[in-house]
Amino acid sequence: MERHRITLKINGESHLFEVESRETLLQVLRDRLDLTGAKEGCGRGECGACTVLINGRPINACLVLAVAVQDQDILTIEGLSDGDTLHPLQKSFVERGAIQCGFCTPGMILTAKGFLDKTPGPTEAEVRRNLVGNFCRCTGYTKIVEAILDTSEA
Ligand code: FES
Ligand code: FES
Repeated sequence: MERHRITLKINGESHLFEVESRETLLQVLRDRLDLTGAKEGCGRGECGACTVLINGRPINACLVLAVAVQDQDILTIEGLSDGDTLHPLQKSFVERGAIQCGFCTPGMILTAKGFLDKTPGPTEAEVRRNLVGNFCRCTGYTKIVEAILDTSEA
């Protein structure tokens, strides 16, 4: 298997790796950097648990090859807070009780961030539509939608 030396910019820091052609961004994040916020649910682009932001766009990290995202801005949930200060979306999820098992939460929050950055003041229907690629088995979505709307209003 061919190996490549690549640089990935993750949460504002550059990291040099040697990777195989077939390694996904999700594998590199979780197995090489111990950034385990992005979860592997389905592993085939259906659940959104692995969502990260690449250049501000929500992307399923299980579908992206690490070699394909060199030198792009990658944001994971670990890079979202400002030290001990939670991002407003993180605060709203906690305050609204929009987290149960937490498996979907990093992907939900990053999907919501990518959306709110481009769509300030969305309607509830727009928020719901934007979450179609992120599955939650616990919450029934209502509190997640409320948390995103709260953040937008704030
Ligand atoms: S693990 Fe990537 S979309 Fe499900
Ligand atoms: S909180 Fe458990 S899957 Fe969403």
